[in-house]
Amino acid sequence: MENLIRDIDIISPEEAQACDVKVTAEEATGKSKKLYIESYGCQMNFSDSEIVASIMKENGFDTTSDMEKADVIFLNTCSIREKAELTVRKRLVHFNALKKNKPELTIGVLGCMAERLKEKLLEEEQIVDVVVGPDAYRDLPNLVAVAEAGDKGVNTFLSREETYADIAPVRLNSNGVSAFISIMRGCDNMCSFCVVPFTRGRERSRDPHSIVAEARELFAKGYKEVTLLGQNVDSYKWSAEENNKARLNKMGVDAVVNFAQLLEMVAQVDPKLRVRFSTSHPKDITDEVLYTMKRYANICKYIHLPVQSGNSRVLDLMNRTYTREWYLERVEKIREILGEDCGISSDMIAGFCTETEEEHQDTLSLMDIVQYDFSYMFFYSERPGTLAAKKFKDDIPLEVKKRRLAEIIAKQNALSLLRNQRDVGQVQEILIEGVSKRSEEQLKGRNSANKVVIIDKGAHQIGDYVQVKITHCSTATLFGEVV
Ligand code: SAH
Ligand code: SF4
Ligand code: F3S
Repeated sequence: MENLIRDIDIISPEEAQACDVKVTAEEATGKSKKLYIESYGCQMNFSDSEIVASIMKENGFDTTSDMEKADVIFLNTCSIREKAELTVRKRLVHFNALKKNKPELTIGVLGCMAERLKEKLLEEEQIVDVVVGPDAYRDLPNLVAVAEAGDKGVNTFLSREETYADIAPVRLNSNGVSAFISIMRGCDNMCSFCVVPFTRGRERSRDPHSIVAEARELFAKGYKEVTLLGQNVDSYKWSAEENNKARLNKMGVDAVVNFAQLLEMVAQVDPKLRVRFSTSHPKDITDEVLYTMKRYANICKYIHLPVQSGNSRVLDLMNRTYTREWYLERVEKIREILGEDCGISSDMIAGFCTETEEEHQDTLSLMDIVQYDFSYMFFYSERPGTLAAKKFKDDIPLEVKKRRLAEIIAKQNALSLLRNQRDVGQVQEILIEGVSKRSEEQLKGRNSANKVVIIDKGAHQIGDYVQVKITHCSTATLFGEVV
């Protein structure tokens, strides 16, 4: 499931698999109170929920997977499309009944919807007690205490510095094999359709030393894969000057660390620790990053490189700051440096403001050229306050958006199958991550290119690396035999 963005109006089968709403696991370390968290949206949100659980744990809460047992319920929310917000609103209605039976229950809305709507959420949703934005999670215990005393608590302060670098996340949904590490927060890109810069604030990078330390600790605990997370990881930049030069120099780290260097530092933790990252903005992915990927076998050969549209005029309106040609040049470089087997995936938006039929065709033709392994596909959903909402009319009728989206999905399904068929006959290393959903007798793992591979169980264990010959495939999955 390894792309940055998981939303609930997902489209393709592999996404449906990947983006179940995540709920906290049962934990019993003897704390007096219980916390239940449901997380929506992208991996950043899932990763943040692990920070939230950690902060709450310090303050007397164990997590639970049973909302009936909870003293506090948090919804970590997403605003990326209208549907994402509607889902949360519906969920809140469901909690009404719970709260009727248990009036002392505290209900909190966290994340992007909290940040976007602020106090308005308290007015609109009577059931909500606390509203807390993504940079204010250290204040949660205090705000919950305010709610327990019968008041409402709000903190939607956006920070320029907060990276939660010192907080050890409680690994909530982990299979014990792969974990997320947030390396940066926020986004400065201002794509015209996107709400994220408003809900997540300014871009800031986390201390590389704390990132490497987290990766080391995970590996020592038996984890085999880390995914470095950010809205735009390729613009990661940590400057000792801006932070604490003296300390860094002592560690022998360069004065400025860019993403390629960070990637290398994490890859060096151990050759048996796989490294993934997401998301890459096409304007920022450098040859240096690609060569670093090539140098380290444990950096997975997979890049999530969302294009959004295949037409340069639409890309300009979207404020993506690259053209079709620029994008295709980046893809060529990926193929040249990392070869044909490197996985490439994308996000697509159908029916952006003023998009013509020909421009939509450009998206389809670009997909044919790139041959994406998979994509996350959406129709345009206008978000209040964004540049596009202010400047352009949302003028493509819903039926047209949906038809264009269906064409994009059909194209992607055909391409996914084609790309998977290329794998048949190859011997690939996979990391086993869990039991197959379909059968207890089968295990699922992923290859370097991020594709799910199903094998017979045999004597293999979760967390093992195995060499597998791919025997057949479907659109979403590869099937193989251990060699
Ligand atoms: N930072 C990532 C994407 C973050 S949002 C990047 O720049 O690539 C995840 C995806 O949601 C986007 O890539 C886009 O395809 C989609 N998305 C964002 N805003 C949207 C909107 N208003 N309507 C439809 N899809 C949207
Ligand atoms: Fe949104 Fe663009 Fe930032 Fe991605 S890069 S989070 S699409 S503003
Ligand atoms: Fe992620 Fe949704 Fe926020 S995609 S950054 S949770 S708006």
